[in-house]
Formats: sequence, structure tokens, C-alpha cells
Amino acid sequence: MAAHILVIDQGTTSTRSVLFDDQARRVAIAQVEFPQHYPAHGWVEHDPEDIWRDAVATAREAIGKSGVAAGDIAAIGITNQRETAVVWDRATGEPIHRAIVWQDRRGAPLCAKLRAEGAEALIQARTGLLIDPYFSATKIAWILDNVADARARAERGELAFGTIDSFLLWRLTGGKVHATDVTNASRTMLFDIHRGAWDEELCRLIGVPPAMLPQVHDNAHVYGTADPSLFGAAIPIAGMAGDQQAALFGQACFERGAAKSTYGTGCFMLLNTGDQAVESKHRLLTTPAYRLNGKTTYALEGSIFVAGAAVKWLRDGIGIITHASQTNDMATKVENSHGVYMVPAFVGLGAPHWDPDARGSIHGLTLDTTAAHLARAALEAVAYQTLDLAEAMVADGGSRPEVLRVDGGMAANDWLCRFLADLTDMAVERPADLETTARGAAFHAGLAAGIWPDLGTLSALWSREHCFEPSMTPETRAPLVAGWRDAVQRTLSQRA
Ligand code: G3P
Repeated sequence: MAAHILVIDQGTTSTRSVLFDDQARRVAIAQVEFPQHYPAHGWVEHDPEDIWRDAVATAREAIGKSGVAAGDIAAIGITNQRETAVVWDRATGEPIHRAIVWQDRRGAPLCAKLRAEGAEALIQARTGLLIDPYFSATKIAWILDNVADARARAERGELAFGTIDSFLLWRLTGGKVHATDVTNASRTMLFDIHRGAWDEELCRLIGVPPAMLPQVHDNAHVYGTADPSLFGAAIPIAGMAGDQQAALFGQACFERGAAKSTYGTGCFMLLNTGDQAVESKHRLLTTPAYRLNGKTTYALEGSIFVAGAAVKWLRDGIGIITHASQTNDMATKVENSHGVYMVPAFVGLGAPHWDPDARGSIHGLTLDTTAAHLARAALEAVAYQTLDLAEAMVADGGSRPEVLRVDGGMAANDWLCRFLADLTDMAVERPADLETTARGAAFHAGLAAGIWPDLGTLSALWSREHCFEPSMTPETRAPLVAGWRDAVQRTLSQRA
């Protein structure tokens, strides 16, 4: 009975814990939302104490609900919102500032300076990333420059930096382990993805003392042991991965050419490129997908900042729906979007445009536009953006995947999946378990704990709930896509 795995999945708006059995079946889940802080325009912060409290509470709740004894949990896996930066005092374990969240734009001036200094090519070559405040480095620099004495203390080695995985690991082990995994490290803009090591030159350039960085390990690795006072047993923490890379792993996309797209707050599409780190010519990111036994498998990633967040805006911002699931019926009820396009650049545009100054827009409104047309335009925008990513991936030399595996909350929307298949001309596969992110972290922890021997065993644990086959003709698709591209051009900030 000892082969259960507890996963802590710490996301942007909620923290959840999921308990899996040795067939990767979900035995219990507990989830809680936590407060978002917006202290200034374009700034987004989380209180790391909220995150820690909820991680422990949901883990205890999931264990309690399952009836599984703590001694029967073989391993803990951690997966997390990526890039979000925490800096804490090594002596006390106290954060010196609230966590600066991936959506936060305050690093934009430092990014502009780096670009002006001509650092873009170097940064892309080493890290696979484009210069953007999305990544952790400029968030860390901001904390060091704005909290009294922080820079000097960091240089003396008194402060630690970590993404959320690293902060949770530190707390779970009672401050004994300061480490991260290769996927989270690769989102900082300080990590050389080819050598698999922190890059001293980039640390100097951006102003982050290397003394504050965690040790970097494989995804399936025994990182440390949870303090027994937390869950009643000394459970090894045996797997860690950033949430999007964990979702790729949980979708069993182990072959080169396999792709997944996760629809949560944003949308993140990853294409497995095998042992090749493909440098993008079309403004995608090159990122480690996972590292096992020291061997890195890479992916091309397209990051869209707003997907589910647009539906949340329909509900909370303008109140035309009361529940996200209504969009499915509203989109079905109208024959088309009636020429309405929504470009959801609420926090700028991510890949492939990387325009932090663009702002959301709606085009094509007429007097007979209805709420249903707007709802449909919001869903369609998610599919159009996915198409843009898929095309950029093909242009970067990948072949067009025949199948796209989808997950995340919005993947439950049938209408969206069907439109996505039609628009991208790919079969859209939806797995039986939409908790793919947590499953990926469980897979890593289960590999390290010896529950599963290899990737073949993990592939056999993945199952499909539905496949949406494309049926739209090129003649129907072309004008729709042309309308979208026109709306995007009108939205980009350079045109203003
Ligand atoms: O890069 C940001 C991403 O990891 C956040 O994912 O699911 O918390 O919106 P999510």
C-alpha cells in the first residue's frame, strides 16, 4: 500500500494537492484560491506565507480525505507557477518581500536597458529566452534594488532566491535544502540551458549575486525529506517541475514532435524537440522539457498570457456571464462571431509578438452584436492564438504535429476543442484526467521513488477521453484567420 504519491500543484490563482495511487489514478484532491495583490499598475504579487499555508493545508486535507496513512505515501512531487520570484532570509526563512508574479511587468525598464545594451542575442543563445519582464531575473534585481540593504546581504550570501518550487522545498525540509529543477531554473533568464548551469556572465549583467541561487537537479530526483511534523511521516520529495513542463510530461508527450497545450489563466503550448535545443527564429522560447539521469529533452514553447483570464473578465469584468461554462452554450447558439474579434492583450501580448505595451481590443462591433458573439470571440481568440503558436513552431523547422493534446480548465469546453481542431487542422486529444500538471509531477516523483521504471510504463498510464477531429475546409478557414491577423495588427502598440 506504500505506493501513493502526493503532489503539491501551486498555481497562479490557486494551490491544490492531489494524491495519486500507483496506477496514477487520482485518489483525492483539495484546492483553495488565494489573494492576488496589485499594488500598482501592471504589478502582481503573492504573499509567500499564503502559498506555504495553503500548500500544507491542502496536502493535509487531501491525505485526510483519501484515508491513506502518511506512511503509505512513497513520495512528494511539486509543480508550480513558473518565473514567480521569492527572496528570503536564509537564517529565518522569512521572505524579504512579497513574491513578484510572472505576470508582473515592473522589470520592463531593466529589460529595455538590456536590449539597448545589445544583450538580446547573448540571452537567447544561452537561456533560450527573449528579454521580457515575464522571467525571474529582473524581478530579483528589482527586489535587491528596492528592499533596504538587500543587495549587500545577497552578496554576503545571507539571502536565498527561489521560484515557488524552491521556496516550498526549503520550507518542507525545514530550511535544509535550497534547490530547484532544471525546468524552473531555465525560466529565470540566468540559466545556460546547454551547459545546464547558472551563467555567471548573465548574473553580472542583470545584477543577481550567484550566492543566492539554488542548486539545480534533474526533475526525477530525491531532493530531500519533508519534516515529519508536517504530514506525520518523513516523506521524500522526489520530483519537481514547472507546471507547463509537468503538463507535457503528464500528457506523456515523450516523443519528438509530440505537443500539448494547457489552457489555464494563460495558454502554454510545448512541442517536444528531443535532444535538440532548437533556437527559435519566430520568437518562441527554447526550454528544457525535462532532464532525467542527466539527459535533457528540450521543447519549443509558445506562451500566451491570457486564455481563461479572458473568460474570467467576461464574468468579473463586464458581467455578461455568471459562470465560465456558459460560454460553451453561448458560442454554440450563434452561427459565427458575426465578424467580432477579441484580441486579449490585457497584460500585453506574449508569443510570438512579445509586445508588453499592447492592450486588449475588440473589433467589428455592430448594433446587432450580442453577448453571445463576445463570448464566442473570447473563446475563438484562444484558438487563434494557439494557431499562431503552431505556425511559428512549424516555421522554426518543426513539422506540424498531427495531434495536439489539451488540458487545463478550459479544455473541458467542447466547443473550444472542436473549434481548435478545425482552426489548427490538428486532431485535438483530451485526456481522461485533466489534472495533467499534477500528474506530470507525480510521474517524476514516481520515477525517482521507483514506483514506475520508465517512460514506456508512464505512456501506458495515459488515456484519452475524447478526440476532436478537424472538419473545416481551407476555404472557410482562410478568411477567419485573415480577420484575426488584421485585428492583431491593429492591436500591436507600434501602430498606436
Ligand atoms: O509561466 C507561467 C505559468 O507557469 C503559469 O501557469 O497554470 O498557474 O497559469 P498557471
